[in-house]
Amino acid sequence: MVAALSGKYGPWGVVAGGSDGVGAAFANKMAAAGINVVLVARRVPVLEASADGIRAEYGVEVRTVALDLSAPDAVTKLVDATADLEIGLFVYNAGADDVGLPFLDKDLDAHLSLVRRNCGAVLEAAYRFGAPMVERGRGGVVLVTSGAAWAGGATLATYGATKAFDLILAESLWVEWRDRGVDVLSLVLGRTDTPSLRRTLEAKGDVSPGELADPDDVAETALAHLADGPTWIHGSDNPTGPSPLAALSRRDAVLAMSRGWAPNGHAEN
Ligand SMILES: NC(=O)c1ccc[n+]([C@@H]2O[C@H](COP(=O)([O-])OP(=O)(O)OC[C@H]3O[C@@H](n4cnc5c(N)ncnc54)[C@H](OP(=O)(O)O)[C@@H]3O)[C@@H](O)[C@H]2O)c1
Repeated sequence: MVAALSGKYGPWGVVAGGSDGVGAAFANKMAAAGINVVLVARRVPVLEASADGIRAEYGVEVRTVALDLSAPDAVTKLVDATADLEIGLFVYNAGADDVGLPFLDKDLDAHLSLVRRNCGAVLEAAYRFGAPMVERGRGGVVLVTSGAAWAGGATLATYGATKAFDLILAESLWVEWRDRGVDVLSLVLGRTDTPSLRRTLEAKGDVSPGELADPDDVAETALAHLADGPTWIHGSDNPTGPSPLAALSRRDAVLAMSRGWAPNGHAEN
C-alpha cells in the first residue's frame, strides 16, 4: 500500500487540522507512505511538535502553516504558503464542535465561525486544491464528517448542518471527479479518541464515554479505502452502506438523534 499511496497521491499532502488526533494520525500514515506533508493548525507549539515528530520518524519533508481555518482569508493564505508544492492529497479534518449547546444559548459569532471553518473553508479548499488535481488527472480528497450529518438533533443544529454540508459536498465531488483520476471520500466518524473529544468530555464531567474509535485505525482504514467512496462510515458493519437511520422516518430520526442515539457512537460529536 505504501508505494501505491505515494504514487497515486504524492508527492505532497495537506492535512487541515493536522497537529493532533485524527489529523495527526493521517499525517503520520501519509508520511509513513513517503508522502511529504503540510500541517495546518492554530496552536504553534502543538503544530511544531507534531511536525518534528514526523520528520524524525519518517524523514519526509514537513511544512507547517499556522492559521485559523475560520478566518475568511485562511484558504488564500494556505494556497500561498503551498504554491510551490504539488499537492496530490488534501485531508480536511478540523471540524469538531467542543460546545454542544441549544441553538440560542450560543453566540451568533460562534455559529458563524463554525460555518466558515466547516463549510466555507472546506468548499474553497476543495475548489482551489481540487482543480490542479483534476487538471493533472491524479489525486485524492478526504472530507472528515460525522454521524451528526445523518439527521437534525437538539444541540447539534449548526454542527450537524455543517457536517451534512461536508458529506454532500464530498459525495458530489466523488461522482464528478471519479472519471478524472481524483478519489474523493466522505469519511463519517463516530466518537473518536482525540484530544478535542477528551477536552469536551472533561468539560462535561463525562468520565465513562464508552468505546471510542482509535485515530490511527481511522486514518489507516480511510487511506486504504480512499478509492472506495463516496462515503466510508468508520466502525460500521456496513461502511459503504446507507445511513444507519435510513429505516426511520425523519421525525423519528431527529428524535433519536436528540436522545443521543449512538450505535457505534455515530450520533455524538
Ligand atoms: N472526535 C470525535 O469523537 C469525532 C466524532 C465525529 C466526527 N469527528 C470529526 O473528526 C474531525 C476531527 O475531530 P477532532 O476530535 O480531532 O477535533 P478537531 O478540533 O476537529 O481537530 C483537531 C485538529 O484540528 C485543528 N483545528 C481545530 N480548529 C481549527 C481551526 N479553526 N483552524 C485551524 N486548525 C484547527 C486542531 O489544532 P488547533 O486546535 O491547534 O487549531 C487539531 O490539529 C472533525 O471534523 C470532527 O467533526 C470527530
